Amino acid sequence: MGVQLRSIVLVHRLRAPAPPPHRPLLGSENSGARTGIWAGEQSCMLRRGRWVQLAALSQARAMARTCAHVDWRWLASAPSTIDAAKRLLRDRGNEDTRPLAVATAHQTAGRGTKGRAWHDDGQGNVALTVAFSSPIPLTPLTLLPLRIGTLVVEALGDANLTLKWPNDVLLDKKKVAGVLVESDGTALYMGIGVNVASAPTVPKTGPDRGRPAGNVAGDAVEIAQSIADALGAWTLQPDDAAAVVRDWSKHVDWNQTGELRETGERVTPVKLLPDGRLRVQGAGGERDLVADYLL
Ligand code: BTN
Repeated sequence: MGVQLRSIVLVHRLRAPAPPPHRPLLGSENSGARTGIWAGEQSCMLRRGRWVQLAALSQARAMARTCAHVDWRWLASAPSTIDAAKRLLRDRGNEDTRPLAVATAHQTAGRGTKGRAWHDDGQGNVALTVAFSSPIPLTPLTLLPLRIGTLVVEALGDANLTLKWPNDVLLDKKKVAGVLVESDGTALYMGIGVNVASAPTVPKTGPDRGRPAGNVAGDAVEIAQSIADALGAWTLQPDDAAAVVRDWSKHVDWNQTGELRETGERVTPVKLLPDGRLRVQGAGGERDLVADYLL
């Protein structure tokens, strides 16, 4: 710990409305020690009425705005950042109302949608959870996963990325990021996984079968921060259903057919409805898919 503290510097003083201080987190969620540039922890702390960031100097630029928008915690590792966020939010108390962002490049028990596992090899993929404990500016809430998917694509900033309903992010038809939304009655948790350093092997058959995975270029910490920034900034302004539908629709490959997991039927997207359902064209005509498992 002594060596680690000597290599840490304070960077970027931010003029931000000053929520009450929280204790900076310097520790990992489990005892698995790692080495490498993602092994250190980062957090925000209040100093003379301003948020400053506690991080290695090499990450200073990427951290320029993060503490203003979110309560940022980078962990050396965690079983699941969703569970870490639930615990950290409980510990934080009610005074700080910023979204809490918890991220790591080493998640040991990550979960995906439909009870599936979400794997990373600990070498630089992003596992991020952003928890909203204050009301979010969007009705109906069923649109939230769509808005999050759009924000993730836009934060990643690659014009070749597309969205597959409701919020899988694809590059060259391969899945590079997924979103799992959970709620515990206290807060909403946006769990976001992005393949950066590597793409896991996805089974072609069986209950865990899925689309092949790909990966995006970049640095895990910077990518996690830009997504957390985007989600944090989004909560500060009003949003509406028409804007969600319009923005999401811009990123969809409307010619891309997909397979329904339950029946194997091939369907093509037709349009996104104002409540977040997707109208699709299948062998038996048009019908509307409901994302009822999302919340
Ligand atoms: C999917 O199946 O497409 C959703 C994957 C969501 C994975 C992320 S990684 C961060 C957060 N923590 C988890 O355990 N899962 C989500």
